[in-house]
This record gives sequence, structure tokens and C-alpha cells, in this order.
Amino acid sequence: MNILVVKANNRPASEAVSSKMYETFMENLEGVNVTTYDVFAEDMPYFGQDLFNAFGKLQSGEEMTDVEQRLLAAKQKAMDALSAADVVVFAFPLWNLTIPAALQTFIDYVYAAGFTFKYDENGQLVSLMTDKKAVILSARGGIYSTPEAAPMEMAANYVKNVVGGVFGMEIVNEVIIEGHNAAPAQAEAIIAEGLKKVAEVAKSFSAVTA
Ligand SMILES: Cc1cc2nc3c(=O)[nH]c(=O)nc-3n(C[C@H](O)[C@H](O)[C@H](O)COP(=O)(O)O)c2cc1C
Repeated sequence: MNILVVKANNRPASEAVSSKMYETFMENLEGVNVTTYDVFAEDMPYFGQDLFNAFGKLQSGEEMTDVEQRLLAAKQKAMDALSAADVVVFAFPLWNLTIPAALQTFIDYVYAAGFTFKYDENGQLVSLMTDKKAVILSARGGIYSTPEAAPMEMAANYVKNVVGGVFGMEIVNEVIIEGHNAAPAQAEAIIAEGLKKVAEVAKSFSAVTA
């Protein structure tokens, strides 16, 4: 089994809860092939017209600019990482109600017709990653699991809609740590309980192949 962990926070684990979730997952994983794709460490130019210009130049053979070459290489690297994985773990924070921009760029790279989805002859969306499993590990300082606040949450919901809804991966585990900023007195307990669940998820993958 190949596990790809998409790490989407470059704040230190001593300060950032989602970085701690990443670290806890890695520490409790044993006997499996695991690769980290660190979206903050990769050279990932923004997705935009430069990419479409690069596609055009790929066809025409015209020389590409530096950013066009970097974009094509980075997009390919992200797609290759996803292709090689049986399980994809996403570890990310909620920042400003959504995911960090670097994780958005990773998703932009792999969200491609003919790769993660396609349309059939009736115009219906067909998911192309149905053989993969996904795990969601996310932290958010406020509480977004109540019916009133849930529509404001655009990090875990977004990632799940993309990888589950569009790409067709089976979301097998979801650990959310929330409310530790809203309730500082309970923060330690909230975080400890969540990290325990993260460790259990990691161990469940270790056991499968042990
Ligand atoms: C740049 C930034 C933006 C944030 N925005 C929000 C927010 O919109 N809502 C919220 O409840 N918490 C917000 N937080 C708190 C985080 O959700 C909290 O720290 C959580 O643990 C996830 O981020 P972390 O893994 O970086 O700690 C924000 C934190 C940072 C650093």
C-alpha cells in the first residue's frame, strides 16, 4: 500500500494543531510506504494563464518561459504523486474559513479532465479516482460543526467535495479538531482527544499491511 500525505501547513507543530496532526499521523504509521507531498516546500507557481500558454507551447514546440516550465513540471509532479497513491491523507488547517493557498494550488494542478474526472457522452461527470481512499485531518480554532456554522466551513467541506464528490475517492476517515481557540480552558483536552484519533487512524493503516 502506498500512502501519500499532503501536508498543507508550514507552521511548526509546536504552534499549529494541523501540523501536529500531520506529525502524529507520521509517528504512528508503520510498515507502509509513505510519501509526504509538502505543498509549502514545493515550487508551485499559481495556476492561471501561464499554464494554458505552456500547453499551447507544448503543442507548437515554441520555447517556454521559466514560469511556464516550472508550472508544467510542478503540475506533473503533483499528478504523479496522486497516481502512485492508494491512500491520500490531507492534513490542513482552516485559515480564513478556507484552505491555505498552497493546498489550493495542489488541487488546481490535479483537478484535470481526463485525469481525476471526465464527462461521459451524456455530459455526466464520471469520477476517475474511485480506486483510491482519502483521509481528512483538519484543525479549526472555532466551532463549525453546528448546523448554523457549518456552511461557513470551506476547508474540510471543500476538500471532501473535491476528492470525494468529484474525484470519487472513498473518504475512509475524517478527524477534525475544533473549538480549541473558542474554548481555551478545554483546548488541551480537545487537542489531545483529536490527536489520539489521528494516531488510531495511522495505526489502522499500519495494521492492514503488518
Ligand atoms: C492565518 C490564520 C487564519 C485563521 N482563520 C481562522 C478562521 O477563519 N476561523 C477560525 O475558527 N480559526 C481560524 N484560525 C485558527 C485556526 O483554525 C487554528 O489555529 C487551527 O488550529 C488550525 O490552524 P493551525 O493548524 O495553523 O493551528 C486561523 C489561524 C491562522 C494562523
